[in-house]
Amino acid sequence: MKWKQQIFDMKPYQPGKPIEEVKREYGLEEVVKLASNENPFGSSPKVAEFLKTNETNHAIYPDGYAQKLRTAVANHLEVKESELIFGNGSDDLIAIITRALLYPGVNTVMADPSFSQYWHNADIEGAEIRKVPTVDGRHDLPAMLAQIDEQTSVVWICSPNNPTGTIVTDAELQQFLAQVPAHVLVVLDEAYIEYINDPAHKNTLPYYRQYNNLILLRTFSKAYGLAAFRVGYGIAQEDIIAKLDAVRGPFNNTVLSQEVAILALQDQAFIENCRLANEKGKAQYVDFCQRHRLNYYPSQTNFILFEVKADSNLVFQEMMKRGFIIRSGAALGVPGYIRVTIGTEQQNAKFLALLEEVLQEQGVLV
Ligand SMILES: Cc1ncc(COP(=O)(O)O)c(C=O)c1O
Repeated sequence: MKWKQQIFDMKPYQPGKPIEEVKREYGLEEVVKLASNENPFGSSPKVAEFLKTNETNHAIYPDGYAQKLRTAVANHLEVKESELIFGNGSDDLIAIITRALLYPGVNTVMADPSFSQYWHNADIEGAEIRKVPTVDGRHDLPAMLAQIDEQTSVVWICSPNNPTGTIVTDAELQQFLAQVPAHVLVVLDEAYIEYINDPAHKNTLPYYRQYNNLILLRTFSKAYGLAAFRVGYGIAQEDIIAKLDAVRGPFNNTVLSQEVAILALQDQAFIENCRLANEKGKAQYVDFCQRHRLNYYPSQTNFILFEVKADSNLVFQEMMKRGFIIRSGAALGVPGYIRVTIGTEQQNAKFLALLEEVLQEQGVLV
C-alpha cells in the first residue's frame, strides 16, 4: 500500500484515560477526570432539559450548513453568517486548515509547548514544522516572526496557550499581525477565551476584519461544557471561509449538537458563573503552589500547569491510583510539571490534599 511515509512514525492522539477504565483498573468507586479541560459544572441546565424532551428524527442528515446555529452565533458575536465555519470540534477546523494549506514544500510555525494537534496535522500533510520555544510559557512572537519566510503557509497562535495557560496580550497581537506577511494565514486558537480575565487581553474580533489573513477558532467544548457534542467554529473574512468550506466534510455537526450549542450560547449567565467559580478554583491551586514554593504558570484558563519537583509520570500514576486523572507534563513537553483542569471547589480541595500526600511520599514536601 502507498501510505504517506510520515504516518509510520506517528502515534494516535493520547487522550486522558477514560474514567471507567481507571475505576476498573484500580478498584475505585469514584474517579474524577481533570485531564482534558472540560467544564466541571457541565453545561447550561437548558441543554439537559432539551435533551429529556426532544424528538429529533435521527434518520435524517443534519443541516450541513448549520443554518440555525450559524444565525445564533452570528447574532451573538455581531459577525456575518458568511464569516463563520463550523467544525466537529475545533480539532476538525485545525485539520481542515491544515489540509487546505499545508503540503510538502511549505512550512508552518507554532509555539512549543502548544496544542499538539497543530504539529500532528502538519506532520500528516508532510509540511515542515517550525517550533519556537515559549518564554515563561508565553509565545515568543518576535522569534516566531523570524521563522516566517516565503514558504511559510500557516502560523498558529494559541491564546490562552494549552498547556501553559498564558495569553498573548492585545499589544503583542497588534504588533505581530501588522508584521506577518500577507501570504501567511494566522490561526488564533481561542478555545479558552471565555475564561480570560486579564485586562491586557482585548476583544479580538476587530482584527479579523482588519486582516484578511487571520482566522479565530473557538469552541463549545470548554466553558460551554459541550465537549461530547463536538462543536467548534472559525471566524474569518468571507474568502478564507469559502476556501475552507470546500475542504469541510458535508455533515460535520450532528442535529443534536447544533441544537444544544444554540441553547448553551443563549445562557450567558451560566458561562459567567462558571468563569467566577473557575477563578476561585484557580486560587486554590495558586495558594497550594505558593505555600509549597512550586513554580506555576499564571493561567487564564480552566487548567493550571505547575511544578511537582518529582517525576511527573510518577505523580500522574499516583494520582490516578487515588482517583484523579490529570496530565503529566512529560506527555506535553514540560517534564517535572503536571497540568490539572480546575474542578469544583470540593474536587480541587480533595485533589490538593492527595497531591500533598504524594509529594510528601516523594520527599518533595516535608
Ligand atoms: C487549544 C485547544 N484548541 C483546540 C482544542 C480542541 O477542542 P475541540 O475540538 O473540542 O473544540 C483544544 C482541546 O483541548 C485545545 O486545548
